[in-house]
Amino acid sequence: MIIPSPDLFNTMLFIWMALAVATFVLLLFVSAPYGRHLRRGWGPNLSNRLGWLIMEMPSSVLMLVWFFTGHGQGNIVLILFLVLWEIHYIHRTFIFPLRFHSNKKDMPVVVVFMGIFFNVGNTCFNGLHLFHFSTDYAVSWLYDWRFIIGAVIFITGFVINQHADHVLFTLRKPGETGYKIPYGGLYRWISCPNYFGEVLEWTGWAIATWSLPGVSFAIWTLANLVPRALTNHNWYVRHFKEYPKDRKAMIPYVL
Ligand SMILES: NC(=O)c1ccc[n+]([C@@H]2O[C@H](COP(=O)([O-])OP(=O)(O)OC[C@H]3O[C@@H](n4cnc5c(N)ncnc54)[C@H](OP(=O)(O)O)[C@@H]3O)[C@@H](O)[C@H]2O)c1
Repeated sequence: MIIPSPDLFNTMLFIWMALAVATFVLLLFVSAPYGRHLRRGWGPNLSNRLGWLIMEMPSSVLMLVWFFTGHGQGNIVLILFLVLWEIHYIHRTFIFPLRFHSNKKDMPVVVVFMGIFFNVGNTCFNGLHLFHFSTDYAVSWLYDWRFIIGAVIFITGFVINQHADHVLFTLRKPGETGYKIPYGGLYRWISCPNYFGEVLEWTGWAIATWSLPGVSFAIWTLANLVPRALTNHNWYVRHFKEYPKDRKAMIPYVL
């Protein structure tokens, strides 16, 4: 196992965050070609169920590798961080793709590679920080306001994300592939509460871990999901004349 020096790690982390900012700007102009924005010209496709499985798997597997090769095994705080991470990623990798109603949808292979790139980088930064470099997660961290507030925000975001994705999954009958207007929960105020919940989750993670890799994950999540929420919202407004006029894209009353 090759572990970078702390200096190299920090330099790479700043480059990684700069890449997130560049990605944000790019995604404002070019929507990632999957889901309702799938289009020709992005090379060969594969089934989106398989695509999600392949691109998300590195996050759950690699984090376990960093955990079992690091110093976290006897540390309750680090074990709790691992549990939060794995709850999210085991769901995203092995359960979320099984909830698609149809096998007929595809995803470009290039999107899967971009997903793998992001997930490997993100998991390495967070896993190395937590399980190899960190020295400051004593049991007392469990009573620290940063851990408590961060964990509450993470869990709130997880519940919002799950509920919002559940609403989307129940819009279609088995075999259907079209789109309908979602209602209920935070859909009353925003078009993409699943993205809002995801941003809350990783903002909570950044606060609970009080770490730069945690912050980088929150920045990447915003970079990926703010442009996509705006694109999805505009797509709904264009495709449904009856789309609720007072709904925002991702943040109630704001954006
Ligand atoms: N952390 C990150 O950087 C990041 C990045 C991307 C995604 N994510 C998370 O991954 C999850 C999925 O993201 P996504 O971009 O695929 O979300 P999405 O576009 O909202 O789609 C989620 C699922 O619901 C279906 N769906 C969406 N809108 C629908 C509608 N109006 N009517 C019927 N079905 C609808 C989609 O079908 P189709 O596939 O047919 O469109 C897909 O199966 C979300 O929870 C998101 O937060 C996280």
